[in-house]
Amino acid sequence: MEPGLPSALKAGIDRELEGRRRADLAARTAATTAAYRAGRTSAAAIRSEDDALAYALARLPATYAAAATVFAEARRTAPGFAPATLLDAGSGPGGGSWAAKAAWPSLERIAWLDASAPFLALAGRLAGGALDATPTRGDLTAGGFPHADLVLASYALAEIAPDRQQALVLDLWAAADGVLALVEPGTPAGSARILAARDVLIGAGAAILAPCPHHAPCPLAAPAGRRPGVPGWCHFAVRLPRSRDHRLAKGADAPFEDEKFAYLLAARPDVAARPRSARVLARPRAGKPGIDLELCTGTGALDHRHVPRRDRPAHAAARRLNWGDAL
Ligand SMILES: C[S@@+](CC[C@H](N)C(=O)[O-])C[C@H]1O[C@@H](n2cnc3c(N)ncnc32)[C@H](O)[C@@H]1O
Repeated sequence: MEPGLPSALKAGIDRELEGRRRADLAARTAATTAAYRAGRTSAAAIRSEDDALAYALARLPATYAAAATVFAEARRTAPGFAPATLLDAGSGPGGGSWAAKAAWPSLERIAWLDASAPFLALAGRLAGGALDATPTRGDLTAGGFPHADLVLASYALAEIAPDRQQALVLDLWAAADGVLALVEPGTPAGSARILAARDVLIGAGAAILAPCPHHAPCPLAAPAGRRPGVPGWCHFAVRLPRSRDHRLAKGADAPFEDEKFAYLLAARPDVAARPRSARVLARPRAGKPGIDLELCTGTGALDHRHVPRRDRPAHAAARRLNWGDAL
């Protein structure tokens, strides 16, 4: 799946930008970014339609790309899973729903649940006729969600009080008839939220599809997991293109950016899954003698693998591997 936005969503954002002064949007983007960086939630950062649009310009491409990468992995690990319904919990402007629709053309109906009126209004305008989505303004911590084949909470757990996150994960799981996808920023804190959710979900009988190739404790969370070349916490990265307006809004020159994210795919045991295989935990290091891989293996242990150049088939296969891929 492409990490770039689908053309209908790009066109929707372009329509929203018509007649807006780019300098105003850049100022709005700087203000919302500063608010998020200072640890504020969307309730404080997104107060108006302009704030929501600034998010769509500056953050939606990255959260879309992260969700698209996660859904590509869901398709790979559970190729027979074809959801017809999606609950997008904490949907914001709907980028995750667009990524789900791109991954699964089978998707027919989407439920958006979000506390933010400006985000829900923008999501509706961006969707146009391309997504069949029903918006509901509500509180995620109230639970009682409608069931769906696929449930997504993308960059939303971070905004829930720590003492309510476990209950929310269980409520989301209760609503998931097939797969629950959680995506969080690729920070130590985001990864820790995913790890805590993983424990809760394994305890509730979920099968972890990805990224973990096992149900054992996370080896990166153990002090012995701190090794050179291995990130101190489980996270991944996706490179996404930046449009001209995206660059202007951010005051950035580079035509791309790297979004770091942490994620979890949990499935009902009756979702048919491919056998799990070791996961590449860091960018492969290619040198003259060969390629070095840092892996999380099916036994729940970390492994370092050197693939020598002289082993041509194995070396050619290793050259195609990226950070986050399964072997
Ligand atoms: C950072 S945004 C992420 C939006 C979108 N999922 C994405 O990936 O771009 C977090 C979203 O969660 C919503 N949210 C946070 N706390 C919430 C709550 N208690 N109830 C409902 N929505 C909430 C916010 O309004 C916001 O839309």
